[in-house]
Amino acid sequence: MSEPLRNYSVPPAHLAEPHDVGTLHAGLLGDPGTGPRGFSSFNLGLGLLAVGMVFWGGSYLSHFSGRFDGNEFSEIPAPRSAGGSGGSLDPDAKVKKQGKQIYTAICGLCHNDDGLGKDGIAPPLVGSDWVNTEGVERMVRLVLHGLQGPIKINATTTFNIPAQSMPPQGDAVGSDENIAAVLTYVRSSWGNKGSVVKPEVVKAIRAAVADRKTQWAVAELEQIPEGGGAPAVLTPEQLKERLKALPADELKALLQELTK
Ligand code: HEC
Repeated sequence: MSEPLRNYSVPPAHLAEPHDVGTLHAGLLGDPGTGPRGFSSFNLGLGLLAVGMVFWGGSYLSHFSGRFDGNEFSEIPAPRSAGGSGGSLDPDAKVKKQGKQIYTAICGLCHNDDGLGKDGIAPPLVGSDWVNTEGVERMVRLVLHGLQGPIKINATTTFNIPAQSMPPQGDAVGSDENIAAVLTYVRSSWGNKGSVVKPEVVKAIRAAVADRKTQWAVAELEQIPEGGGAPAVLTPEQLKERLKALPADELKALLQELTK
């Protein structure tokens, strides 16, 4: 006796659904497009708005992120590391560009962007014998700690600056690299013919004047030879004056030592 063939499309009686599936789901399905209780299952308008906001956010960041660099808005540019985003500028052009930014942000306010100075405020740097020197002993000092007193430029005193005073710029300009860059810019712009200033030179001068608390007097800096650190050769007259300036007992001791 063989079992009758089962018709699987009709579940056996004990498995049969007591309810009609179609009727059960009708409430969930609702009308196409409106969904249950009148809510739309997908609002095209909101979807487009979200996509639009993500797009706007992305383009806003790519325009205004400042490359996510904390120093992006600093007036004084941080030296970018070698091999960075500097492009194809050679090292000297990079230094000059950095120096120009510092100059414009700080020195140019008084000495003018074209280096020609401002009447009653600051003397010119263009063609100045304070700038076109072989050594930078005077320049580094006056930038670090400022300068005061009547000043002659190229042996003239036509610069009538009531204040006769440049405030210290060391803190504003900052690192040895920054000072070297701004001086390199000043010495090689507007027809000036000074050599490049190396950060190591600035470092050495900074160390030599570390104890300095006050502005330099013009007369004080004029004692420093323009060529740099080499001591000036004294004429016998100057030597005599210097010796006369020594305290009596020191002078006596020195003369005794020399005439032994
Ligand atoms: C607040 C105004 C002011 C600022 C800022 C300033 N200077 Fe001066 N600078 C002066 C004045 C004023 C003198 C003349 C001082 C005197 O009469 O003793 C002077 C003198 C000089 C001199 C020597 C004279 C000459 O004209 O060659 C040099 C070099 C110089 N400044 C460079 C700089 C550099 C570089 C900076 C920027 C790092 C700078 N100064 C920022 C006011 C300023």
